[in-house]
Formats: sequence, structure tokens, C-alpha cells
Amino acid sequence: MKKLWGGRFAASADSFAEEFGASIHFDKRLAPFDIQGSIAHATMLGSTGIISAAEAQQIVSGLARVRERLERSEIEFRVSDEDIHMNIERYLTEEIGPVAGKLHTARSRNDQVATDFHLFMRNAVIESVEALRELQQGLLEQAEKGRGVIMPGYTHLQRAQPVYFSHHLLAYAQMFERDINRAQDLWRRTNILPLGAGAIAGTTFPIDRDQVASLLHFDGVYENSMDAVSDRDFVLEYLSLASICMMHLSRLCEEIIIWTTGEFGYIELDDSLSTGSSMMPQKKNADFAELVRGKTGRVYGSLMGLLTTMKGLPLTYNKDMQEDKEGAFDAVDTVLGSLTVVTAMVRTWRVRPDVMRSSAEGGFTNATDAADYLAKKGLPFRDAHEVVGKLVRYCVEGKRALLDLSLDEFKGYSPLFEPDVFTALKLENVVDRRNSRGGTGSNSITRQIDIVRGFVKASGGWLSERRKSL
Ligand code: ARG
Repeated sequence: MKKLWGGRFAASADSFAEEFGASIHFDKRLAPFDIQGSIAHATMLGSTGIISAAEAQQIVSGLARVRERLERSEIEFRVSDEDIHMNIERYLTEEIGPVAGKLHTARSRNDQVATDFHLFMRNAVIESVEALRELQQGLLEQAEKGRGVIMPGYTHLQRAQPVYFSHHLLAYAQMFERDINRAQDLWRRTNILPLGAGAIAGTTFPIDRDQVASLLHFDGVYENSMDAVSDRDFVLEYLSLASICMMHLSRLCEEIIIWTTGEFGYIELDDSLSTGSSMMPQKKNADFAELVRGKTGRVYGSLMGLLTTMKGLPLTYNKDMQEDKEGAFDAVDTVLGSLTVVTAMVRTWRVRPDVMRSSAEGGFTNATDAADYLAKKGLPFRDAHEVVGKLVRYCVEGKRALLDLSLDEFKGYSPLFEPDVFTALKLENVVDRRNSRGGTGSNSITRQIDIVRGFVKASGGWLSERRKSL
């Protein structure tokens, strides 16, 4: 019968509801993981005698055929089958007949979807570490190439003290190392098996969860069935590290945008990674850097979205949790895409050492060293600061730099100034003297480059160990 409110809906009420409730539009992405999990489950059902060995064999080879059809893009997903789990089961039934119905013994879609998602997320963790490591390598290459290039370091976006360009880049290499560490730590909570939890309470069948875990190369199993089906912490943690990583990328992109302006001109992006304007012929925009900066907001949104989805849910599975996937998928794609494009920008940008240097010369970036010079000659630092402040004001009025002054002019402000002040204030010396651990001096840069090389080596080893799980 026609509904009173039916005019508002293009489809009939039933098919509208079906469409609204379905997740196949997006969870089809879990297909290979669903098949992988089902093969392990069926194998275990066979080896524990819950189903016969022959039945298990039929199911496993049927699933393998479904996977081949999937790889040949011969699978068409149907909204009427609601989600990926039921779509795959229908194809399995097509392949092997009613015995397909035995696959779901001792299993629920609740522990099934959790398992699929764990398999998906551990892949994402690996791919993210790979992409972060590539970026670190790009930064390392540029840090090595840019040794000796002096730029102004900034606080409040005002020139502060000169630093080596390498030092600036190596700061990012450290930030991305923390992102890698977060992902590696998350591995421990991602690479565990929920399957075997059933719908909520476990199962009466004599299942062997350890066997399934080892077939899927999980490092362990959830020890509480209710926790197993209702936990999405591993997704939230990924979204959280993804958000922090995007924040790091966004900061780097912001610097790229600033550095490529005509006013700064510190670097130039490769033509392949910048775009022009449809109207203004002179334009060369850092669009991709802006896009990464912009996409950061969407990733934060996915984190806030899922936190909010989860916050009021009673144990255990609730349909709300079907909303966990789209944001996570989007975040994974966004992080990987952003890392790739930023790595390409870093690897191909052209640096303008002369521009950086003259900017460092112009901003009184050696003023701290003038104060340190006096302090080392015994003047209390506060007084030294005052003296140099006055010197700077004198220079600003005369539009000069500290190094343009004569010794007499220096002495006019403090008798402690000697001819060696000119060496002390030379930018090379200002930078190179800062060899305190973690400083910008060239010995420190050498040490930092070694440290980052060590990171790259270590994460390479970590990756080849973990790839065996996939
Ligand atoms: N499509 C569902 C999801 O993604 C699968 C789990 C459904 N379980 C259930 N009891 N309705 O969450």
C-alpha cells in the first residue's frame, strides 16, 4: 500500500530501508580480508572435526575460487546481500552449493567483521610505516645534499638564529620517526584475533582460536569475547596517529607554501608538482602542499567522528559500529596519498642557498652571539642583552647589519668588544659553534644524520619481519 509519506521517497519503503542499512558500498573493500579470514576459520572447523575434512576442503577451495573471480573483477556486489560477509557467502554458495552454509558455524558477523577490520588495519599500519620511511629517506637525502646551506631559523615566524637547512629538515625526520613509532606500537593491539568470540559470548563448539590466529599470523587472541566484538580502539588509535601525522605533514606543507612565495623564494617546486592559474600567466602555485594541509581537516574529522560514534555504545556490537569504516578507509587513503606527494615534493624541490643565506644575514640572527660574546668576557648576560639590543637599534636606524659596523662603533657600546668580534659574528661560525647535543653545528648534523640513517635501517628490519604476517 502506498505510504502517506511515500512521495518523499524514490524507492519503496522496504528497498529504501535495505539501501540505508547496507554497508556493501564501502565494506566491499574488505573482500580479500573476509576471504582470508574465512579460509582460516574453515580450515580450523575441519581440523577440529566440527565439520568434516572434506567439507572444509570444499569450502576452502570454493573461497579460493571466489577470490580468483574477485581478482578478475567478475564479482558483482548486491545491496540485497547487505554487506561484504553475506555477499561473499552467496558467491561461495554459487560455487559449492549448500555446504557453504557450514562456513558460518561457530561464527557471527560480529567477530567476522572485527577480524576483517583487524586484517585491513594491520595492512594499513605496514603501508603507513613504509610511506613514512620513504619520506624520512627523502628528508635524509636533502639534509645530506644541503649540508652547509645556512637559513634563518624562526620563532614567531620572525628570524631568530641561523641554522643549517639540514637541521630544519632533520627536525621533520624526527617527527616522522615518532609517527613510525606510534604505528609500530599500534601493531601490538592490531595484530590480535577477535574471531571465536561468536556474537558476544563465545561458542559451544570446540573451536581452536590459537590455530586460527596462527593461520592468520596474528600474535595473539582477544581474551574476552565481549571485548573482542566491541573493541574499535585499534581503529581510533590509527586515526589518532594518522591525525598527528597529517598535522606534521601540514606543518611541512605550510613551510613549503611560505618558502615558495616570491617574498621568501627559499625553494622552488618541481613543475610536475605545482600548478598554474587559468587567468594569471605568471602563477606557479604549491597546490599539492595546500591540498595536504586541507585534507588534514578531514582526517581529524574521521577521528572525532568515530570517537563520537563509540562514546555512548553499550557492550557489545551495535549497528552504529558499521559507521567505523568509511572514515578509517578515507584516512588511510589520505595519509598514504599525502605522504607520497610530500615525499615527491621534498625529493625534487630546488633549493636556493643564496636566498636563504642573505635572509639569515639580514635579520640580526647573530645578535644572540654578540650577547654571548660579551657574556663570555664576563658581562652578566642580562647586561650583554641590553648592550646588543641598543646596537641592533642603532643598526636598524642606519639600515645596516651588525657585521657592517666598525670596531670603534662596537666599542662605543662596550669596551669589551675586540677585533675577534667579527669572526664571532660570521654566520658560518655562529651556526657551526652550536655543537651541543641536538644543536645545529656541523658535528651535531653529522651525528643526527647517522641517527636518522639508523631509524631508516631499523624500520626496514621491522617491516620485513612484519610483512611475513600479511
Ligand atoms: N556490516 C556490519 C558492520 O559493518 C557487519 C556486522 C553485522 N552484525 C550484525 N549483528 N548486524 O558492522
